[in-house]
Amino acid sequence: MTIGIIGAMQEEITPLLEHYQAYETIEFCGHSYYRVSLGKKTLIIACSRIGKVYSALTASVMILHFGCEQIIFNGVAGGINPQYKVGDLVLATKLCQHDVDITIFGHPFGYISDGKIFTQSDSTLNEIAKAVAKENGIHLYEGVVATGDQFIHSKEKKEWIQKEFKADAIEMEGASVAVVCDNLNTPICVIRAISDNAGDEALISYEEFLATSAKISASLVIKMIEKL
Ligand code: ADE
Repeated sequence: MTIGIIGAMQEEITPLLEHYQAYETIEFCGHSYYRVSLGKKTLIIACSRIGKVYSALTASVMILHFGCEQIIFNGVAGGINPQYKVGDLVLATKLCQHDVDITIFGHPFGYISDGKIFTQSDSTLNEIAKAVAKENGIHLYEGVVATGDQFIHSKEKKEWIQKEFKADAIEMEGASVAVVCDNLNTPICVIRAISDNAGDEALISYEEFLATSAKISASLVIKMIEKL
């Protein structure tokens, strides 16, 4: 079984590489992929870089070139559900692209040409994530994740996304990876720890909590890998 783990920022994959320690670095198309051998399991870990295009590229390379049979996205998110606090973990049940706008043609926000606004994550992987969280006494929220090529840092914008998509968290890669996985029949699980609340103070909070929240997310992913 080959499992791909993607983080968008170096901070999001460093806790994984530090944990596994022994890995082979493979350069592919000018980008680094890290191969970890765990007996029957192989992990391919990569930092995709920020945003929908690079994360979709990384997911495609992982599946089509490295043969990954499952993809886990690990990282941080802005919490827009008022219950969410910095450090809380959220498992994406479904994901949308909040910045897709072809409303001029009469379509709803987030609509993509094949008719889907939301892409589902994989229920089997999600059940494993939930079971692992429960076993370890970790609270794991389940929520709708909205993705876009924007770092959200305004109350008005986050409230719009929350209202339009009933979203609980915002980030910049999950939905694009989910679309790739959906099209390539590959199960996807997106786990994020909250780094900020996407409001006016988002940048300060993000800079302060990126590394610690990324570690929280990675630690659940590591426990999950043990179960796969
Ligand atoms: N990732 C973490 N915080 C975010 C935010 N406020 N907007 C977009 N992506 C994020």
